[in-house]
Amino acid sequence: MLFYLIGYMGCGKSSIGREAARRLGWRFVDMDREVERMHGMSVAEVFARLGEAVFRKSERTVLEELAAGGEDVLVATGGGAPCCGDNMHLMQTSGKTIYLKLSPEKLVLRLKPCNTNRPKLAGMDREQMLAYIRENLPAREGVYEQAAMTIDCDRLSDDAIASYVVEYVRHHVPVAHAVVQE
Ligand code: S3P
Repeated sequence: MLFYLIGYMGCGKSSIGREAARRLGWRFVDMDREVERMHGMSVAEVFARLGEAVFRKSERTVLEELAAGGEDVLVATGGGAPCCGDNMHLMQTSGKTIYLKLSPEKLVLRLKPCNTNRPKLAGMDREQMLAYIRENLPAREGVYEQAAMTIDCDRLSDDAIASYVVEYVRHHVPVAHAVVQE
């Protein structure tokens, strides 16, 4: 069964996903890393050299392969992936979606300022990121909010968020799939 972590850049999809997958004994896939592997270059380079359209097409390919695979996988999606084409529909029909919801104020605290591998936020300091996210998040939130489960992360530790993810997965998989590994 597939479980997709969705949410804005910096919400913790990758770090929390990796930890939750470890506790579950499940395979973990980070979509951004898969796209990087596909092209042999970083996300920033894919954007710069091949363009965002190629990046989005590659994300879609990764999703289609996962959806067709039928494996137990916990997936960290890219922040823009659910908002592109009918990706959200593909995720909803091939698995369960979990939205890691954070306010813009909390997101900027998690994001590294002047990071170069997030083309959308490249070179921005915290104040610029906050302005950008406040402007950009509402449009995406309409899609994120369609998730099967939303975890309101603002007041939770990463450890607690990972526990909620693990609990949700265990609750939704047939017993035969659930490997307990703590
Ligand atoms: C993007 C988010 C990034 C990455 C790319 C575009 C976006 O993923 O896919 O830089 O449009 O929000 P993270 O959410 O893992 O940073």
